[in-house]
Amino acid sequence: MATVLSTINLKGGVAKSTTTVAIADMLSGEFGKRVLVIDLDPQTNATVMLIGEDRWAEINKKENTLARLFKDALEDDDKRHFDLESALQRRVSNVRDVPRVDLLPSSLDLIDVQDRLGSMPSGRFYSDRPTDILRRAVKPVLDEYDYVLIDCPPNLGIITLNGLRISTGYLIPTIPDVLSTYGIPQITTRVGAFSDAISEDIDPIGIVISKYRAQSKVHRNTVRRLKKECDIPVFESMIPENNQIAESAEFKELGTLRQKYGYAGQFDIFKALTREVIDVVEVEYA
Ligand SMILES: Nc1ncnc2c1ncn2[C@@H]1O[C@H](COP(=O)(O)OP(=O)(O)OP(=O)(O)O)[C@@H](O)[C@H]1O
Ligand SMILES: [Mg+2]
Repeated sequence: MATVLSTINLKGGVAKSTTTVAIADMLSGEFGKRVLVIDLDPQTNATVMLIGEDRWAEINKKENTLARLFKDALEDDDKRHFDLESALQRRVSNVRDVPRVDLLPSSLDLIDVQDRLGSMPSGRFYSDRPTDILRRAVKPVLDEYDYVLIDCPPNLGIITLNGLRISTGYLIPTIPDVLSTYGIPQITTRVGAFSDAISEDIDPIGIVISKYRAQSKVHRNTVRRLKKECDIPVFESMIPENNQIAESAEFKELGTLRQKYGYAGQFDIFKALTREVIDVVEVEYA
């Protein structure tokens, strides 16, 4: 069975998408795993990182994105326009050494959908539960993968809940400062309540420290506080603030993951983080 991990934080800009793509890259390129990235964020950041803007524009024109899936659920007829096989982009990575990252792309059109889903009745025949839309659509392909990583928007709205609905666990990337970490207890409580409501385990896999600055006292103190006070573990591998990591968001053809993330330890730290994730998932929660 696939391990399905959502990347969530209420705060924007804390490296959710960067972390999702980097772990996907490492899982496939370094650990030989079959990986699917599901981009649930209307900002389409993970999508554009993985396939570039031109290919995204083509796909979007044909409505081969997850926006179509959610639109189907909102429309009054029983027609289903979303086609999983057409939407699923196989072997997308721009890095030669990454053989098996597939993508279910997002669309800017998800912005409208997000607002309308909130007021959606539970389907004319109570068949389209608003938090079950993604689950019903992707069920046929989940078992093709070892890992499914879901990049979520910075909120716990219905689209994020669709991701959590199929998740076996979740990661919380955060910058270790006061405001970025403020909502973490809220997240664990809310996800816990949702998990109880659907009677499925959604394990708190860990907090990923991102954009870490070792010389910052706030950063050092916040990491210490998180380790002491949070009921979700903090990964030892902390991702430093670093220009080349920011530049890795740009879509261009590359040979290796070291080229993509950098030779000054950035590659190694993402690989170490991924190894920690695998250990938690495949040892602790096995
Ligand atoms: N370790 C890092 N060092 C420097 N810049 C980084 C690092 N990680 C991510 N960034 C940059 O920070 C910005 C925010 O990162 P990212 O888009 O991954 O965050 P996010 O949490 O997904 O944001 P959103 O809430 O908008 O979805 C991006 O420009 C990204 O390239
Ligand atoms: Mg993002």
